[in-house]
Amino acid sequence: MSGARWFNRSLNRIWGFVEDRTAMRKWGIKPEPAFSFKPSYWTGSFVAVALSYQVISGALLLLYYQPSTNATLTACGQAVGTLSTGPAAWCSTYYIVNSVPMGELLLTSHLYGAYAMIFLMFVHFFRGYYVGVYKAPREFSWMVGTLLMVVTLGMGFTGYLLPYTQLAYNATNVGLVLALRLPTVGPLLGPFILADGTSQGLLSRMFDAHVILLPIALAGLFYAHFALFESHGIAPPASSDPLQRRRFNEQDEKHHLPFIPHVLVYTIKWGLLYVGILFGIAALWPWSLPTYVGNTAAAGVVTEPDWYFLWLFKLIDFQGVTPVIAIALTNVLLLYVLFLPFLDRSKRTHPRDRPLFIYIATSLLEFFILMTVWGGETPGVQISPMGIATTLGPIFAVNAVVVGLFHWRYRRSYARRLAARSQSYAGSYPRSVGTPVPSAAVTAEVKSVD
Ligand code: HEM
Repeated sequence: MSGARWFNRSLNRIWGFVEDRTAMRKWGIKPEPAFSFKPSYWTGSFVAVALSYQVISGALLLLYYQPSTNATLTACGQAVGTLSTGPAAWCSTYYIVNSVPMGELLLTSHLYGAYAMIFLMFVHFFRGYYVGVYKAPREFSWMVGTLLMVVTLGMGFTGYLLPYTQLAYNATNVGLVLALRLPTVGPLLGPFILADGTSQGLLSRMFDAHVILLPIALAGLFYAHFALFESHGIAPPASSDPLQRRRFNEQDEKHHLPFIPHVLVYTIKWGLLYVGILFGIAALWPWSLPTYVGNTAAAGVVTEPDWYFLWLFKLIDFQGVTPVIAIALTNVLLLYVLFLPFLDRSKRTHPRDRPLFIYIATSLLEFFILMTVWGGETPGVQISPMGIATTLGPIFAVNAVVVGLFHWRYRRSYARRLAARSQSYAGSYPRSVGTPVPSAAVTAEVKSVD
């Protein structure tokens, strides 16, 4: 027997033994259809990989970090000639960066990892929106995902203050003013977030939320999110045919690949790539710690949140938009995303069939990008109603025209494809187009499920 054959047989035997003894096949993650082995189907797993890295790096940072505002000489006094004391939270961060072996890489990769996780989460969200994964039967997956998004952004918000820099302190206070303006919930949240009203009280609450409360919520929601995904299976490709989703699944049932090794190795491959890129960027561009809260030299520090909240900070720069209006708009947006599966009722998932919802998604995406850049370029600069109209107006108008044209162009060809399907249906649309008029039977069939 050749060496390679002997090796494969031995490996199979060992693996078979492990599978038998652990009953792994029963609890293992479900096999996945062959069509899903493309990165766009696994955007949520990339978020999960990023989340895992945050948990590991966060646990290591906890070994050194001190959530205290008490003045301390430790590390700071030796490190900076002019500095005698500083808040312990800032000093312990300084210590991690300057004295812990690989500490700078650890802290920077935790921070950039948070940015990456939030960015990947938005990719996962918009991809799901565009291809309509929220449609039946995945409405709850979507709603739990929306809650995951809120909690993840909460993790970013609470983590921002922990190094106790003046920059973060200013931004956190603006964020808190917004949060406390929430009707009903705001006054209830107030005593919980602000504790005894001291800086130490606030830091302690942010720390507790960041390392205990929100992680527990995140773990519970992620479990529910993944369990729902496992029960429904991966969403098939977007389609204009309300019947095709079902047929696609049945046909595809025969071409599933087991979780181990296929899905696992596939995910590990992307996970390693993620960690490699993250380390590379963190090593090349290490984060530099801004000055601490209370440093007199910090008097002129601007108030600026992390990039994912810049759009909201810019919104309050708009003349006439008070914090109450800003927070009300944010809540309307959140409710829209949460209940989207019940607003977009059609059974077709292809973007070309959902012009109104695609228009809203594209406008939102462009609005966020523009507001983020605007907020970063001109933080705190007031914008007049004319400035708002001339900057945002063209985006919404051009979007309406583009989406409208696509929809109009598509509707004309839809009847032809329906007709072609009635003649040569074999589970998917033929490439060539046949008779230009759909048969009455096919039109009735589509209408009955739509
Ligand atoms: C911390 C944030 C999140 C994590 C870790 C996460 C993770 C995952 C994972 C691992 C999957 C399995 C399929 C895949 O890998 O893409 C998934 C699917 C899904 N997620 Fe998320 N997700 C998050 C946020 C969201 C958000 C914000 C939404 C939408 C509001 C969402 C909606 C969905 C839906 C509808 C599915 C089923 C899609 C399908 O079957 O293809 N998720 N998520």
